[in-house]
Amino acid sequence: MLDTPNRVTVEAPPMSELDTGAETMTASHAVRRPDLLTVADAKAMSLTDMTDMFKDHINPGQLHFMKLLGFHKVKIETASGMYYTDQNGRKILDFFGGFGSLAFGHNHPRIIKARKDFQDEDRHEIAIAFMSQYASALAKNLAAIAPGDLDMVFLGSSGSEAMEAAIKVAERAAGPKRPKIVYAQNSFHGKTKGVLSLTDSELYRGEFQLTGNTVKVPFGDIEAIRKAFESDPEIGVIVLETIQGGGGIIEAPVEFWRELRALCDKHGVLWIADEVQCGMGRSGHFFAFEKAGVVPDVTALAKSLGGGKTAMAAMIASRKVYMKAYGTPKTAMIHAQATFGGIGEACVTAIEGLNVMYDEDLIGNAERTGDYLIKRLNELKDKYPQIIKDVRGRGFMVGLEFQDFSQTLPALLRPMVGLLDDKLKGSLSGFVGAELLRDHNVLVAFTEYNRNVIRLEPPLICGREHVDEFITALDTVLGRGIVRIVRDFIGSQTKK
Ligand SMILES: Cc1ncc(COP(=O)(O)O)c(C=O)c1O
Repeated sequence: MLDTPNRVTVEAPPMSELDTGAETMTASHAVRRPDLLTVADAKAMSLTDMTDMFKDHINPGQLHFMKLLGFHKVKIETASGMYYTDQNGRKILDFFGGFGSLAFGHNHPRIIKARKDFQDEDRHEIAIAFMSQYASALAKNLAAIAPGDLDMVFLGSSGSEAMEAAIKVAERAAGPKRPKIVYAQNSFHGKTKGVLSLTDSELYRGEFQLTGNTVKVPFGDIEAIRKAFESDPEIGVIVLETIQGGGGIIEAPVEFWRELRALCDKHGVLWIADEVQCGMGRSGHFFAFEKAGVVPDVTALAKSLGGGKTAMAAMIASRKVYMKAYGTPKTAMIHAQATFGGIGEACVTAIEGLNVMYDEDLIGNAERTGDYLIKRLNELKDKYPQIIKDVRGRGFMVGLEFQDFSQTLPALLRPMVGLLDDKLKGSLSGFVGAELLRDHNVLVAFTEYNRNVIRLEPPLICGREHVDEFITALDTVLGRGIVRIVRDFIGSQTKK
């Protein structure tokens, strides 16, 4: 046994005293095996056990929302292409797409094969001691895809981490005399401590201490930005989602981005384009900012970069910005990759995904089939003007906004709606989404800051037949009228 001053020595009992059943103590360490579930246990777990463990060990409060929407009744067993399959063999059409994480659909065969081959060949994962050929290849690919001199890549494992890297590289390149960062109303850039100061949500900010060096402007308001730049020479960075996701699929016209680029150049401000949700081909361009023909100084990707199978994120900076921030041996390690940055199998997954994206023309499909989706939704808007207020977005980043019905509902139903969770009052999206899942096997996404908006971010492999399936389901739900939708939803809550 080891016997160092910092370590308590435990004499192992003789083998004869050891229990050899499930709770065996191993002879060499005398460490009692906790009551662990196995992978087989996890796969075979009942819906009730899964829910109880979620409540006891993950997030009891979140279960409340899942119950409101009926999500707590679903245990997903498998997933393939555009569909999940649940415990009852029911296939669920995925128009949620993990908020943009499933560009390739579920379990794309080429991505699965690349991952299996990598494991079968005993490749190495951790890229800390030695350089990684996989990280180098992924960085090279991203630099080849990104326009202009967006050539320098930092690999991480979440959108928040990539955005943290983005604001740090920009802050260092902007220099200590220009520490202020402009961000937009209704922005979402993540929940980690640094980017929280740039995420415009009272709820997420809670009572955390934020950095004080920020300036908020309305999204897409070039005059507000001009004024801010002109009046405050300490502004060194501006950070914007190219298409706001959490804000409810909000876009600015191409002229805005062109003027923004010109303003940034004039005032020496660095522009960070957050493409975590709208990037990876979803908008019909690889990067949504490409539509305007302009190039930011720094950008960030995550979500679908992991091929729908793993966590992978990237910050991509212009060579000029990167070299200014970290370009010397003295500064190189200030923000070098973390432990899992550039991990082997995740890199290989991302490399294969990027190749699939071009081989299968997924970006072109997002544009064409996305246009078709928007056209079909506009037909429904014409059919149900009292229910649908707006259809917006591009490619497979589409928002469907419902009318606020809280004032138009029959007086009898209003007190019942008042009993519902705060977030659902006056919002049809929760009711329609719950009904789409329950009765029509279709999954859609809700929107953080605007509960009247359903977000449609299907995998980029989505075909017209899937759009038709979705539209038929939505048409059937909306055809029942607001009163029945609301009454049904309230009924389902009392039946739980
Ligand atoms: C635009 C944007 N930026 C950053 C993030 C944070 O990404 P993650 O949840 O991977 O940390 C998100 C996540 O939804 C996002 O939509």
